[in-house]
Amino acid sequence: MGSQCMGFAVLLLSLLLVSPASLSYAKDTLELDGYIEDGETLISADEIFELGFFSPGSSKYRYIGIWYYNFSTDTVLWVANREAPVPDTSGRLAVGGDGNLVVLNGSRSVLWSSNVSLSSNASTVQLLDDGNLVLNNTGRVVWQSFENPTDTYLPGMKVGLDLTTNVNQYITSWKSSDDPAPGNYSMGVDPNRSTQIFVWEGTKPRWRSGRWNGQVFIGIQNMVPTYIYGFKLSNFELEKKMYFYYTAFNSSHRYVLTWEGIEKHLTWKDDTKFWSTFWAQPITDCELYNKCGNYGSCTDENTPICSCLKGYVPAVEAEWSSGNWTSGCVRRTPLQCERNSSGGAGSVQADGFWKMEGVKLPDLSDWASGVVDEDGCQAACLGNCSCQAYAYVTGIGCLVWGVDLVDIHIFSSGGNDMYLRLAASEIQTKKKKSFVILIVVLAVVLSLGCIYLFFKCKKRIRGTARNAFYRRRGDRGIVSVDPNRDRDRAEGGVSFRISDESKDQKCQELPLFSFDSIVASTSNFALANLLGEGGFGPVYKGTLPGGQEVALKRLSRSSGQGENEFKNEVILMAKLQHRNLVRLLGCCIHGEERILVYEYMPNRSLNAFLFDPRKKGLLGWKTRYDIIEGIARGLLYLHRDSRLRIIHRDLKASNILLDKDMNPKISDFGMARIFGSDDNETNTKRVVGTYGYMSPEYAMQGVFSVKSDVYSFGVLLLEIVSGRKNSSFAHQDSSLNLLGSAWKLWNEDNVMEFVDPAIRDSCSPRQASRCVNVGLLCVQDRPNDRPTMSSVVIMLEGGTAAYPQPKQPTFSAERSPSDTESSTFGLRVASASNSITLLTAR
Ligand SMILES: *[C@@H]1O[C@H](CO)[C@@H](O)[C@H](O)[C@H]1NC(C)=O
Ligand SMILES: *[C@@H]1O[C@H](CO)[C@@H](O)[C@H](O)[C@H]1NC(C)=O
Ligand SMILES: *[C@@H]1O[C@H](CO)[C@@H](O)[C@H](O)[C@H]1NC(C)=O
Ligand SMILES: *[C@@H]1O[C@H](CO)[C@@H](O)[C@H](O)[C@H]1NC(C)=O
Ligand SMILES: *[C@@H]1O[C@H](CO)[C@@H](O)[C@H](O)[C@H]1NC(C)=O
Ligand SMILES: *[C@@H]1O[C@H](CO)[C@@H](O)[C@H](O)[C@H]1NC(C)=O
Ligand SMILES: *[C@@H]1O[C@H](CO)[C@@H](O)[C@H](O)[C@H]1NC(C)=O
Ligand SMILES: *[C@@H]1O[C@H](CO)[C@@H](O)[C@H](O)[C@H]1NC(C)=O
Ligand SMILES: *[C@@H]1O[C@H](CO)[C@@H](O)[C@H](O)[C@H]1NC(C)=O
Ligand SMILES: *[C@@H]1O[C@H](CO)[C@@H](O)[C@H](O)[C@H]1NC(C)=O
Ligand SMILES: *[C@@H]1O[C@H](CO)[C@@H](O)[C@H](O)[C@H]1NC(C)=O
Ligand SMILES: *[C@@H]1O[C@H](CO)[C@@H](O)[C@H](O)[C@H]1NC(C)=O
Repeated sequence: MGSQCMGFAVLLLSLLLVSPASLSYAKDTLELDGYIEDGETLISADEIFELGFFSPGSSKYRYIGIWYYNFSTDTVLWVANREAPVPDTSGRLAVGGDGNLVVLNGSRSVLWSSNVSLSSNASTVQLLDDGNLVLNNTGRVVWQSFENPTDTYLPGMKVGLDLTTNVNQYITSWKSSDDPAPGNYSMGVDPNRSTQIFVWEGTKPRWRSGRWNGQVFIGIQNMVPTYIYGFKLSNFELEKKMYFYYTAFNSSHRYVLTWEGIEKHLTWKDDTKFWSTFWAQPITDCELYNKCGNYGSCTDENTPICSCLKGYVPAVEAEWSSGNWTSGCVRRTPLQCERNSSGGAGSVQADGFWKMEGVKLPDLSDWASGVVDEDGCQAACLGNCSCQAYAYVTGIGCLVWGVDLVDIHIFSSGGNDMYLRLAASEIQTKKKKSFVILIVVLAVVLSLGCIYLFFKCKKRIRGTARNAFYRRRGDRGIVSVDPNRDRDRAEGGVSFRISDESKDQKCQELPLFSFDSIVASTSNFALANLLGEGGFGPVYKGTLPGGQEVALKRLSRSSGQGENEFKNEVILMAKLQHRNLVRLLGCCIHGEERILVYEYMPNRSLNAFLFDPRKKGLLGWKTRYDIIEGIARGLLYLHRDSRLRIIHRDLKASNILLDKDMNPKISDFGMARIFGSDDNETNTKRVVGTYGYMSPEYAMQGVFSVKSDVYSFGVLLLEIVSGRKNSSFAHQDSSLNLLGSAWKLWNEDNVMEFVDPAIRDSCSPRQASRCVNVGLLCVQDRPNDRPTMSSVVIMLEGGTAAYPQPKQPTFSAERSPSDTESSTFGLRVASASNSITLLTAR
């Protein structure tokens, strides 16, 4: 009995010791008269969100906030007393005598109140598992934090515009990272009901998303219509409230309007334990609202970034040329329909339309109802003299502009077509010019054809290049529009060799570097500046006069092989821009010299780390995972999001360059092919690529498709995870080569054995398993079984619950093809074991 008593007393004692903490930590609800003090918190039922006092940044003031339970108070999602902090730790959060939620200071004065008028004080406050703090009063929700947001938009929120009362709700930024008081920026839906999201600075628009087309906001470049955004527009006609909402599935997502006025989409990565920015806007100058003024168009890649629309001239020339674009541009030649006096004469030509491509469509569009196609849209615009432009957008319909055209941004990829109304004479001059160009082009093509025939007699033709006479994006004018034009051009590739006679070819709108400046930048191609020897010639490091470091790829004079690739690369790279693609800064054509100027990548190539026993440890698991994701995004961009659909055809570790932060950049587009959007595979006589990365159908039959790149990506992924080269252990016994061992270990549920031993400790088993699963899906024999890059990106993001089961790869690509076409192929194979990649150093 004595010992029982003892035991009971100990139990009681320990309960007493533990209970104050455990009581305050277990609850998610406050009843009337209940409160928490500084240091205590409310925690939602499933321990997802936590509420309590915190001090932001270096501030010493105390605020009531909600944050993710698992993360520190760096992730504050909501703040109650934004403008009324408690100066010390004597504050309280309580359900006050009137039933409102209140923040009190040390002498129990009300600093902040939910401030709803209540007839009864029978209130409870509860922190829910979606992060919402709700105030119940007599069984009714009378107030909730989701309807009184601060700077964060969480899944489930419905912040928007009440169409009955016109009351708009906003997200407002903090003043600074130390001060949650309302700052200069706010975000919300367009009060003009255009289904756009705006960020305002004060009352001035700072950024807009473009209209919602049912899947994406058309003004956000490269927005991917997947689960990740999971965005939906409310059924506003029924609900009488216009807002966007989203679901986050299993991973945490939040949209934050930072105190610097940037809208950021952050996602939490379960395995790596950090928040990564999915996208953020506005970042570039052109993303700022109406950067170039009315009738100006903004292109980030141009210098200067602003130009007037076709047929428009600067409103104030002096201002414009000095870089002040605020006054914008004005029409040069009045429209015919505006010149009412001269009417009647039959000879007068009607106004026409000029097509612009890749446009972030201007703000303040009107929606023309009842129009079902592009022709109808054109007619609608022609019928109204004040109509300046029109665009027909899938998912939205016909948009017309009857007011000044504001906030036009020319995207480097994506965007919409817009038809700008111009006087006939404005278009005519261009037509004449185009005609001259056409003649010149024809002459060039003819002479090239002759040269081609001449060479054909002497030598087999080895290359395929695209005869693409593209002009600058966003300014390609035609009056009547054939939507198939682009596609036809991309498909109707012409095979020919560029002779030395075609030196007059331009650098595709890219900056042209003088040969002298190149010589100076590399100290006359000094050996000390040699970065490596590529397949088509040496690569040098150069330093431009401004101090910018660049990499220079110099086609060797002897390699006639490289000429096609040079042109191919210039054409492609000039049009591509993505943070996971290496950037071409310009080129140099001088006599026989062909030099490409790239951004310099201080960390060289993935190859140099991954397969070097002394350096592979520097690539930790998180870095490798980021690299895999980066490559996947870059490839997705090539396959789907860039305006040209592109197959890289030579994806491999040595073609992945690393910038100073170890971000991967896909390089070497010499082999890439532009793809029509309809054909999904193409046959080629010449098999190029690198042994070990080539898909079976490509190596054996020369058939390539985007799925061939997916295969190469799969091999690359498995190499990154395992730190082993695919070719380095090509054994007859399939269980010993890379794909075979991946397959074996994955089936044995022993993926960690596959992971590079150098980094096994830092590796997340879940991510590794996810990676190997995706890798095996990508290297399946049948192209149709392989996922597309968009599925790959989603799977890597962990955005899907179920991963398909891969089929066993049979490694047929490892047999060397024995057909007659294998001579060039053989050459590539021979050099593949060395680093043949350009821009790579040993
Ligand atoms: C919080 O962290 C714990 C331990 O790391 C984990 O088990 C739990 O799933 C996490 N909860 C959430 C909501 O992420
Ligand atoms: C709540 O209201 C009742 C009746 O109006 C009142 O008697 C009671 O004191 C109130 N409670 C508090 C905590 O003020
Ligand atoms: C609480 O706030 C009131 C009113 O603002 C103020 O008069 C009082 O000094 C504050 N008390 C403390 C302890 O800060
Ligand atoms: C509560 O709301 C009323 C108007 O509804 C306003 O006058 C008052 O200042 C508010 N009080 C606080 C503490 O916000
Ligand atoms: C608050 O009200 C909602 C809706 O009526 C209800 O689902 C919830 O359980 C209530 N919470 C509390 C703590 O009473
Ligand atoms: C907010 O506006 C004020 C006044 O215009 C300015 O001084 C301040 O720097 C702005 N803050 C930010 C973060 O831009
Ligand atoms: C709404 O549209 C009118 C013209 O139609 C424009 O002047 C105004 O600036 C727009 N408001 C916003 C907030 O965009
Ligand atoms: C640019 O021009 C506008 C309009 O003339 C003028 O108000 C503004 O001050 C100018 N801005 C600068 C930076 O010169
Ligand atoms: C066209 O006619 C209208 C009214 O008839 C007049 O106000 C306008 O100035 C005329 N425009 C031109 C360019 O003559
Ligand atoms: C990558 O390059 C940067 C800049 O040159 C350097 O600071 C960093 O240490 C390099 N990273 C690795 C892993 O070598
Ligand atoms: C190409 O598309 C056709 C039909 O659209 C399909 O039968 C074929 O399997 C596809 N090929 C590839 C490689 O996806
Ligand atoms: C979320 O995770 C649970 C358990 O892991 C799973 O059953 C569910 O299908 C997942 N939901 C989604 C949408 O991925």
